[in-house]
Amino acid sequence: MNPTTTPQENIVLIGFMGCGKSTVGRELHQRLGYPLVDMDHVIEQRAGKSITRIFADEGESVFRAMETALLKELNDRAAPRRIISTGGGIVESATNRALLKNLGYVVWLHASASVILQRTRKIHNRPLLETEDPATRIQTLMEHRTPLYQETAHLKLDTDGLCCAELAAGILECSRYFFNNRA
Ligand code: S3P
Repeated sequence: MNPTTTPQENIVLIGFMGCGKSTVGRELHQRLGYPLVDMDHVIEQRAGKSITRIFADEGESVFRAMETALLKELNDRAAPRRIISTGGGIVESATNRALLKNLGYVVWLHASASVILQRTRKIHNRPLLETEDPATRIQTLMEHRTPLYQETAHLKLDTDGLCCAELAAGILECSRYFFNNRA
């Protein structure tokens, strides 16, 4: 990241696979009218293939490099406010964590491991969960990533039991406060 980059005023959604980032992102986009950048979607469009295929053909490291390249691009481009929905592993890199914080108000959508398992078990578009034992994989990844989400986020929202509209309303309120009071 260029250290002189001015902090931006986007709303950035982070959190584990299946926590609802894309759905809440669409709801915020509808309410605010800001453009929505769904990073996984942009990466798939540019690569001309699904994330599953990118992992299979080129490996996870190539996908991670694409994520970082896109984050840098979003940081470098002076743009009006956007809603940015990220992939669950984005916080694994320290470079990414710094870029995320510079992009704006970072909201961590949190869900319990059992809810994540329930939501993801029938959908086979997440290569990291295509294992014999997705429950253990979720547990291990969550343990590793929780402190990284924690360190990156300005706000943590527990999503269990809340609908998309309630989450969006909370994020709107808190982000207004954040941007109005930021030095
Ligand atoms: C990943 C999460 C996925 C996608 C890729 C890797 C991860 O995005 O970026 O499969 O490492 O947690 P979602 O969080 O939108 O499922």
